[in-house]
Amino acid sequence: MASIRHFLTLLDLSSDELNAIIDRASELKRLQHAHKPHATLSGRVLGMVFEKSSTRTRVSFEAGMAQLGGAALFLSPRDTQLGRGEPIEDTARVLSRMLDCVMIRTFEHEKLERFAEYSQVPVINGLTDLVHPCQLLADMQTYREHRGDIAGRTVTWVGDGNNMCHSYINAARRFGFSLRIACPEGFDPDGEILAAAGDRCEIVRDPMSAVEKADLVVTDTWVSMGQEEEKKQRETSFAGFRVTHSMMEQASPDALFMHCLPAYRGLEVDADILDAPDSVVWEEAENRLHAQKALLEFLLA
Ligand code: CP
Ligand code: NVA
Repeated sequence: MASIRHFLTLLDLSSDELNAIIDRASELKRLQHAHKPHATLSGRVLGMVFEKSSTRTRVSFEAGMAQLGGAALFLSPRDTQLGRGEPIEDTARVLSRMLDCVMIRTFEHEKLERFAEYSQVPVINGLTDLVHPCQLLADMQTYREHRGDIAGRTVTWVGDGNNMCHSYINAARRFGFSLRIACPEGFDPDGEILAAAGDRCEIVRDPMSAVEKADLVVTDTWVSMGQEEEKKQRETSFAGFRVTHSMMEQASPDALFMHCLPAYRGLEVDADILDAPDSVVWEEAENRLHAQKALLEFLLA
């Protein structure tokens, strides 16, 4: 039996594999828009364990499996034995005997790794405190559809050195772009993840210098899920790191703006930038659907 492939971080797949998934995502998008059937995963079932809230991830996986001819189950710890303390290893053994694939959104990345270790079927990371690789598939698809290959381009991350920032660092390695990270002191990304990317990624403290001539400007909330109690203090620490119109003017004339959403308008980004012509956030959200369908095909083929 061929060994199972998991998608816990972008680094689980090679550059060629990631690019092939993105090609297929754009093809699936065309089929979907043309209402052409593409039931390539008929009879297959995805389980989705959500220990944190979600709009995009849940709906894109659930709709995606239905469109591919399969089905998806939403599993919340509130209603499963996970919430009553059944060990993750036992849950993985049981679920993977019934399902064809499992997606997990949780807090500790290590918990996801433990699940994958005991799973007989592919496991997909639907976001952990450490990384959010599914979002990067959609972001890379979106950039390519608008501006072509991202290799050799400059991307600027403004804001928290969080899970999304870590996935951008990994993406810089796999997709071959340079990444400048503008975050306030005390909110840097993980040192090991950053160091592993070598000179592809650098911290540029001043956001105005960081966005200069950038091809893509990206931000995310200052308060990730699980950090709600730090909200007030974080809003003070991140003052000066809002993506503003004047920042976008420093970027390249054809720069795009992305945000994984949900966005807090007026905090991490000027309220109307999301709706400006250089913003592709709505299509970025839509591409979660197409990119994850391509990922599911790849893992379940
Ligand atoms: N971007 C993203 O993962 O959104 P949700 O939290 O709504 O799934
Ligand atoms: N960094 C955010 C991303 C939400 C999709 C969080 O972890 O809450």
